[in-house]
Formats: sequence, structure tokens, C-alpha cells
Amino acid sequence: MNSILKVDNLSKHYISKKSIFSKKQVVDAAKNITFEVGENQTLGLIGESGSGKSTIANLVLRLIEPSNGRIEIFGKDITNLKEDEMRKHRKDIQIIFQYTNSVLDPQMTVDELLKEPLKIHNIVKESELDEEVERLLQMVNLSSSERWKFPGQLSGGQNQRIIIGRAIATRAKLIVCDEPVSALDASVQGQVLNLLIKLKEELNLSYLFISHDLKVIRHMCDRIAVMKNGEIVEMGDADAILNNPQHEYTKKLIESILDINTN
Ligand SMILES: Nc1ncnc2c1ncn2[C@@H]1O[C@H](COP(=O)(O)OP(=O)(O)OP(=O)(O)O)[C@@H](O)[C@H]1O
Ligand SMILES: [Mg+2]
Repeated sequence: MNSILKVDNLSKHYISKKSIFSKKQVVDAAKNITFEVGENQTLGLIGESGSGKSTIANLVLRLIEPSNGRIEIFGKDITNLKEDEMRKHRKDIQIIFQYTNSVLDPQMTVDELLKEPLKIHNIVKESELDEEVERLLQMVNLSSSERWKFPGQLSGGQNQRIIIGRAIATRAKLIVCDEPVSALDASVQGQVLNLLIKLKEELNLSYLFISHDLKVIRHMCDRIAVMKNGEIVEMGDADAILNNPQHEYTKKLIESILDINTN
């Protein structure tokens, strides 16, 4: 199977100082992280708040610099690429964040929001932009009538579809999803997740998928990595991990999440 993302011994530490009198403290936000995501695969990252999930997402996207280790996308080492070299690869790997009002520019119409990545990365000719916007709207199950609206005139679920549309606009093959449905109503969550699954099949995408919701992870992921204090403590087939966790921490995590869901 083709390797889409390969992360080898990746670490990120922060040096923090609570006050000018206190000693420096090293925070291992990510420590010796190794995993691989294959073509058309979804790897889920779970773990309590502060365990390092977003740190890994940001490292993979080269939004923050690693302290150690190596990142490969599509077989190319991107660990030490300078920003101008990295720019060429930005279109190949996109991120979908948790939806909040600040993710999309409220002054831009849906039309402009979808054209922006197409123009930045020169995806289609100027004369084909309108047609491409219609195609993207269709792919994310939005109607043409939404095209002239502003984010404030759309629901959270519709806005999340625009964010997904912007991610696939660049023909990215790898999409990092950091809590993509956490801010949405339960009824809308399923629709957005099913859209992500549909697009995965249609466009042969791979996802690095972060969620604290086990139901979401079960629905989406082929494999799961469980994180604690910046480290992966257990990784494997999604069903195996959820049905038969080996590590004490994974057992506790699954119990605690099931508790919250049943209360
Ligand atoms: N810029 C920073 N400076 C110092 N420490 C940081 C910084 N960014 C993250 N950290 C620390 O790194 C650790 C991992 O944070 P991270 O955001 O990756 O967690 P997370 O698993 O995504 O949590 P959540 O589920 O709450 O989103 C935390 O202890 C956090 O406080
Ligand atoms: Mg996070």
C-alpha cells in the first residue's frame, strides 16, 4: 500500500516558566511519535485533553517546528523544508478544524470562500472557476442557492461543508481533521461524518482523524492510536482496540467516555 503520511520518532517539547522565580519546565507535547497512514486509510487519534493530539496535527502540517524526528508525505521528507519550498506541498495536505465562527471570513460569500483556495493554488483556469465552484458545492451536498450567502446566513453544518469544500478544492489527498464535528448538533454530526466518508471513497482520501468521541472514531477509523502525555500508548486496528483494549489507560479512557455518553 502507498504511504501517504509517515511520521518517525517525532517529538515536540516546549520550555515553559510559570514565573520569573520558578525553574524552567520541559513539556513533552509529543514524544517519539511513530505511525503511518496508507492510501485511503483513516487513522484516529484519541486521548484526553492535553495529550498531544493537536500538536501532532500541527507538526504534520508544519505549522509548528518539530524538536526531533521526521515527517514524510507521499514519500517525500518535508521535515526540514523551508517555508517557500513547503508552500508547494501545502495544497496536498489540508486541515479541517472544529467549526467556530472565526474559521470562515464572515465578509466573504460562499462563492469567494471556495474560489480562494482554487486561486491561491492555481487549481483551475480563471475561466473555469465558476464551474468548479458549482462542482464543489455539489460534492459537499450544498445547493447552488447557497453560493451567494455569507457564513452568518448558514447553519453550522452548512459552514462545516464549506470548510470541507475548501479542503478538497486543492485536490489534497491527505486531510487532517481536528475535532471536525465536535461543535455540531448530534443530528448534523452524522451527516457531516457521512460526507467525509463519501468523499474519502470518491476522491481516494486519507484522514488523520482527531476526536474525543468514541462513537465518531468507531464510525470513521480503520486504525486508532491512543495518546497519553504526548506518547502513543497503544495503536492498532480500530475494532481490536475498542473491543479489546490492552493498555490500562485505554481501558480507563474507554470506560470514562462511555460513562459520559450514558449519563
Ligand atoms: N505553544 C505552547 N507552549 C507551551 N505548551 C504548549 C503549547 N501548545 C501546546 N502545549 C502543551 O502541549 C500539550 C499538548 O497539547 P495539545 O493541544 O496537543 O493537546 P490536545 O490533545 O489537542 O488537547 P485537546 O483535546 O484539549 O484539544 C499540553 O500540555 C499543552 O499545554
Ligand atoms: Mg486539540
